[in-house]
Amino acid sequence: MRVGEFRTSLLAIALIAALGAPAAAAALDVGVPDHFEAALSEAAAAFVEETGHHVRLHFAPVPPGAFEIARQGGMDVLIPPCDESAKAFCDNGWVSPDTGKRIFYRRMAIILPPKNPRGIARLLDVLQPDVTVGSLSVLRSRIEQVAPSLCADPHEDMDVMGLWCGNDNVMMDMLHLGVLDAVIAWDTFAADDARNFVVVRLPRSAAASQACAPITAFVTPASDDPEAAQQLVDFLSESLTAQDIFMKHGCMLDDGGHAAWYDEHPGKRFDPIYRSIARQVIDDYGIAEGRALDIGCGPGQMALMLTEMTNLDVTGIDIEPEVVEIGRRHAEEAGLAGRCHFVCADAHSLPFPDNYADLIVSRGTLPFLRDKVLALREVYRVLKPGGVAFLGGGMGRYTSEDMAKKLYPKGVSPETALGWGPGQTREDSIFPFPVRNFAALVTEAGIRDYTVIDEGGRWVEIWK
Ligand SMILES: C[S@@+](CC[C@H](N)C(=O)[O-])C[C@H]1O[C@@H](n2cnc3c(N)ncnc32)[C@H](O)[C@@H]1O
Repeated sequence: MRVGEFRTSLLAIALIAALGAPAAAAALDVGVPDHFEAALSEAAAAFVEETGHHVRLHFAPVPPGAFEIARQGGMDVLIPPCDESAKAFCDNGWVSPDTGKRIFYRRMAIILPPKNPRGIARLLDVLQPDVTVGSLSVLRSRIEQVAPSLCADPHEDMDVMGLWCGNDNVMMDMLHLGVLDAVIAWDTFAADDARNFVVVRLPRSAAASQACAPITAFVTPASDDPEAAQQLVDFLSESLTAQDIFMKHGCMLDDGGHAAWYDEHPGKRFDPIYRSIARQVIDDYGIAEGRALDIGCGPGQMALMLTEMTNLDVTGIDIEPEVVEIGRRHAEEAGLAGRCHFVCADAHSLPFPDNYADLIVSRGTLPFLRDKVLALREVYRVLKPGGVAFLGGGMGRYTSEDMAKKLYPKGVSPETALGWGPGQTREDSIFPFPVRNFAALVTEAGIRDYTVIDEGGRWVEIWK
């Protein structure tokens, strides 16, 4: 596609909705960067279904395609590709700043081939001389701040090697073909790619203010129907429907700023339960040597307990770079950093080879995963034959009802405290999800040898 051109997608659903829509239905034109296509198409279709308005999405490469769309005018809503472009849109009067609302965040990330063959875990690993790194030329000023040594590389202008690519699809193909070992770019470039690239989001300590960018939707001054346009902006930023859709497409719903709070509050309050769950796992499976993984480890309490109580080499994995940093700090403070590691990674594309871990645990994370079946397949892939995975949510069977009540704030019922909600039977509980669904998910992931455990919360143990 030539720069400045854009594709228009008239949502089929708009036509269907229009047949039964009220006379006041608006026709909204929305300018969108093309790599938000999947997420925005789905969210816009949900809006059309809910309101009866028509939505026409105009996709363009970013930038300068997005700016072209703005210049051509006629858009009711504009979604700039990141905060810097949002500022440029505001400065040029293409959007009305007071109408803007954040719809999701994207994060600078290291993107790696499936299974991470080079074993890259941090920015430092990427900056080794034998690693060929790619990025987009439009991200150059950001990369200069994230990794100045990359920009000082003597090959910086070698288009053939693709260090600075003009097009994100070409860049991701080069990564897949092995021309590049790693890419530093927005995490959203990998989110909708069926090739299951490994994503390592960069923490603020490595990427400072470049780490995270909010994506904002704005109403433009050119809009024919500002009220309906604002309705769309509100829907995208506030409705649970849109949030579910964005999460499904791997878009972040917050910027990770809550990590320290999580460590300080739930992390501290639940301290005794990490010990009881670790004890239960050790007693039940007798695995005290080899490698263990904790998926969605948060600030690392369970990973640290397992390390302390066994001879296992434990790795905590979390998609949130800030909690991974806190986990590393705790491991150092406890003198366990030699055997307790933390890696920023996505449970949907684990950065480990097949048959890697003797034990895998995961507490409280499954409900947050956009594709639970894919994540279960990843767990099974990296689990060693003869190994066990213990996944789910709750406090474990060694936590008494009294203890559970103490740990939760006043007024929370013991049922909730132990892992299922007030007025619900265990069978129908929504957290982490009903027992029967749990079994269905594991089966769908192709896993045969498993047991659903309905005690001390809701868990599944998986054998390979
Ligand atoms: C409720 S917390 C549980 C943390 C910890 N396991 C505990 O029991 O306290 C859920 C964790 O899952 C992480 N998470 C969410 N999506 C993830 C993903 N796709 N891959 C890895 N971790 C993820 C979150 O960042 C968060 O730290």
